[in-house]
Amino acid sequence: MRKLAAGNWKMNGLKADGTALAKEVVARAAGAPLSCDILICPPATLLDRVAAILAGSAVALGAQNCHTQQKGAHTGEIGAAMLKDLGCSYVILGHSERRAEQGESDALVRAKALAARAAGLVPIVCVGETLTERDGGKTLDVLARQLQGSIPEGLAGGELVIAYEPVWAIGTGRTPTTAQVAEVHAHIRKGLAGQVRDAAAARILYGGSVKPSNAKELMSVPDVNGALIGGASLIAADFWSIAEACS
Ligand code: PGA
Repeated sequence: MRKLAAGNWKMNGLKADGTALAKEVVARAAGAPLSCDILICPPATLLDRVAAILAGSAVALGAQNCHTQQKGAHTGEIGAAMLKDLGCSYVILGHSERRAEQGESDALVRAKALAARAAGLVPIVCVGETLTERDGGKTLDVLARQLQGSIPEGLAGGELVIAYEPVWAIGTGRTPTTAQVAEVHAHIRKGLAGQVRDAAAARILYGGSVKPSNAKELMSVPDVNGALIGGASLIAADFWSIAEACS
């Protein structure tokens, strides 16, 4: 399956450095086309500018959140149709930072995923266990529950992306062993089979401290179909090196 290298810029980037970063990614994509899909997800404030930079390139645009409704009286929120209108094709949903900071539940993530699909966006639904859950031997149960609750029924595998991001690996420099990643990704693939049509076509990304130094090893694990990259996606050379490992 063609892998996806997705950069999650989180709440980083002002006009100057954000546009410079996007231009550098586009220049690298033009210089050396890769056999993977490339996506960057800047903060909402930069989407319009970055869309103009990505136009005509092989780099896709994504957002980091959307509302459950497309429009209406929801002060401060952004609807999926608005993101589509800006040129987005993906939206990250249920990231552990939002689950923790905004208290997003599985049911909310599911409603957002439905809204994303209705607007023609591909949701990247994030799941992952905390360190306490892993140490307590609950990882697979937690992931099964999150998947069950966060993924709408009736979708086909190609209409969504799952990102497995162990909470304890995000921004910490720690990564699971390849055996742990393999176990979880196989578990997710199996669980998806009961939830979506053609589950084999769903891309399952690994995320959490992916770096140029560990990307090749992580991307070689069975059922790892790409990476969701946080910190390293803010440095064009590092992001590109990881994309090459996806290629
Ligand atoms: P990280 O973040 O690569 O900085 O660990 C990944 C993510 O949260 O998507």
